Amino acid sequence: MVSTISLIDNNKLPKHIAIIMDGNGRWAAEKGQERLYGHYHGVESVRNIVEGSSELGIEYLTLYAFSTENWDRPQQEVSGLMALLADTVRKEVPLLNKNNIKLHIIGDIELMPPFAVKALEESMFLTSQNTGLNLIMALSYSSRWEMANAIKKIAKEVEAGNLKSNDVSQHTLEQYLSTSKFPDPELMIRTSGEFRISNFLLYQLAYAELYFTETRWPDFRKENLYEAIVDFQNRERRFGKTSKQVQQEEPVA
Ligand code: IPE
Ligand code: IPE
Ligand code: MG
Repeated sequence: MVSTISLIDNNKLPKHIAIIMDGNGRWAAEKGQERLYGHYHGVESVRNIVEGSSELGIEYLTLYAFSTENWDRPQQEVSGLMALLADTVRKEVPLLNKNNIKLHIIGDIELMPPFAVKALEESMFLTSQNTGLNLIMALSYSSRWEMANAIKKIAKEVEAGNLKSNDVSQHTLEQYLSTSKFPDPELMIRTSGEFRISNFLLYQLAYAELYFTETRWPDFRKENLYEAIVDFQNRERRFGKTSKQVQQEEPVA
């Protein structure tokens, strides 16, 4: 079988791909297993997609792994996920370093148990010199938390006299979001057939192309990623302009 990778135009790759990794619980239930079984298998997909993105030369990959709202899940699932997460980030460091991948975290990690925070901080430190793919894990993350947090920080700057309220612009807000160091995602993928954003990067996805697939996260592999990228490359991104304007701007290859 010919891989979809041959259809990818390397000159039109998205710089930043964001993924809502959904469907672990249903995947497990379909196999008559507990939800955590699905999360364990989801790690295999993470490894595969991180590797695939790095091979393609994608610069930023953001993975939504645990939302603010996920804290409300049954306690057993939450503690199982925290343990899996801490264990995985620790174990993956040699592979991240081998592939020159730098780990970043966005989210309210103060809510996480200390052993998980420690594992995350160590792994970020140990990969901090890498210059290839930036792997951004969204943990205890939600967009509304992030925006409220950014606004609070801006208000403090205004209060302290460091910033004039009249000078607050989109650019200011972007500087205070947890994604300030990263460009906006051009492509957002959600697995498992739900057509919603679930409080993920609401600001940053303003002009992202959205791609939804029925595939459950534990079944998602490089080939599925290539399909999403090819789909993305066949879209016309207009940013509010007309199709004609966009076509005139595009250099003919
Ligand atoms: C995504 O899979 C992983 C997390 C949210 C942690 P789910 O656990 O949401 O799986 P479904 O959606 O219930 O199948
Ligand atoms: C979104 O999935 C969060 C993550 C994948 C981490 P959920 O399964 O929590 O989203 P909803 O509840 O179906 O919207
Ligand atoms: Mg879900």
